[in-house]
Amino acid sequence: MGSGQMYLNPGVQTDSRLWFPILLWTMGVVGVVVGVVVGLYIIRKYRERKWGQCKSKRRMEGKIVVITGANSGIGKETARDLASRGAIVILACRNRLAALEAVRDIRTTTGDGDLIVMDLDLGDLASVRTFASKVLEKFSKIDVLINNAGVFIPPEERKKTKDGFEIHMGVNHLGHFLLTHLLLDRIQSTPSSRIVLVSSMLYKRGKIDFDNMDADKGWDKNERNQLYNNSKLANIFHSQELAKRLQGSSVGVFVLCPGFVYTGLMRYSAPKFNWIQKLCFAPIMFLFMRNAQQGSQTTIHSAVSEELDGVEWGFLRECKIDGLEEVAQDSVTAARLWDVSMTMVGEKTVGVAEGEGELVEEQGVVLEEEGVFVEEEDEEEEEEEEEESAGEDEGVLVDEGITLEDDDEEDEGEEPVVAEKEVSEGEPSEGEGEEAASSSAEEDDEALVDIGSLDDDKRLLLQHQDQKNSKSK
Ligand SMILES: NC(=O)c1ccc[n+]([C@@H]2O[C@H](COP(=O)([O-])OP(=O)(O)OC[C@H]3O[C@@H](n4cnc5c(N)ncnc54)[C@H](OP(=O)(O)O)[C@@H]3O)[C@@H](O)[C@H]2O)c1
Repeated sequence: MGSGQMYLNPGVQTDSRLWFPILLWTMGVVGVVVGVVVGLYIIRKYRERKWGQCKSKRRMEGKIVVITGANSGIGKETARDLASRGAIVILACRNRLAALEAVRDIRTTTGDGDLIVMDLDLGDLASVRTFASKVLEKFSKIDVLINNAGVFIPPEERKKTKDGFEIHMGVNHLGHFLLTHLLLDRIQSTPSSRIVLVSSMLYKRGKIDFDNMDADKGWDKNERNQLYNNSKLANIFHSQELAKRLQGSSVGVFVLCPGFVYTGLMRYSAPKFNWIQKLCFAPIMFLFMRNAQQGSQTTIHSAVSEELDGVEWGFLRECKIDGLEEVAQDSVTAARLWDVSMTMVGEKTVGVAEGEGELVEEQGVVLEEEGVFVEEEDEEEEEEEEEESAGEDEGVLVDEGITLEDDDEEDEGEEPVVAEKEVSEGEPSEGEGEEAASSSAEEDDEALVDIGSLDDDKRLLLQHQDQKNSKSK
């Protein structure tokens, strides 16, 4: 008993002496954690202020915008923003279900604009051609083309497109190259139109090796993904050569880096983290990565900003025109890549003019020695065009020369259109704009039920919803 007391008492005394340091230690730990969290938050907010933000309030009523890869990430947020400005947005996607989900999600934040889903697989040139011909058939103008879609896949997988091109070069560059080429006349005939290419700062580490376009001879293994970098450099060269050939037209060509953005881009190559690694990675993500809405700002700026009116070409970062590294200042490679790409996508390649004063003519286009394309229209063609456009004026539609042509009945079953309607005439006044916006929302919902293959689309969505619901039960 006595010894038990002797044994217990010192313990009780020790506990009572310890509570104060334990309290201090706990407060210290909590203080450090709170300090770190607040510190990170402040740094994050500081960084966010430095990230570019599109300040333009320009409305886009009646403008037709094509966005590739608009079902997720930067493309989806761009579609959301442009729709909220009243644009008619064509979501050019390879996964219709994901695109329809994106439309549904965009509709939770805006009733403005029209959202049209059309199938496009950039890894399949036949799909690019089908898509382009449908767009040309349905729309008599294209105000903005945004080449946004992209893949980032470990090179070791040696993935190829349907046509056998290395996947990054094939999807990120060649698919967009052909798409742009096929839509170019329509874009060019649309006043003050723009072409926007989403590249990346990783272009700096890219290299265009004409003897190894398919990477069959290997690639730099020291880079995380040399083949992605190459495709992003190709985007820059494409934009430069395009702008050069469009000189003097009213088309602005802009290529950009969106910053480091938290999207699904890395889904094929992100390491499979366990929860501890995820916890360690979280602060880095929190500090350095933008969300998709923040990451879409430079794309939106390039598509709408008044600051870029009349500008023929620009490389943009943080919503500002920026300079390019030396690796991308190589007009010879840019011109050669153009020719090589034309051949790869199966379009006629234009011969390079040799000798002074020599001109090479092809498909009604004259390539001058300096490499600038000048459109040559003979009088007959002009007359024909005038007749055609007179026909359009009388005919189906509508706003500032937009013609949403009626589908052939045959086509209707196949058309991947989600929400489509006729566009009202002219730039609406403020009041009209609001009215149009709210009626647009109602009509869109109706259109979603009524148009073309929408029954299929609705079924697809509902099925998917059912699957999700049954999984969550
Ligand atoms: N995230 C960044 O940090 C970052 C940085 C610099 C540049 N970028 C560029 O930003 C652009 C957008 O990427 P993101 O970050 O928004 O990634 P994302 O969320 O993965 O979006 C990429 C989009 O491209 C689509 N796509 C992929 N392959 C396609 C194909 N063969 N045909 C048609 N569409 C295809 C995807 O469709 P599915 O959903 O069907 O796969 C998806 O909608 C890319 O060009 C990327 O290189 C991103």
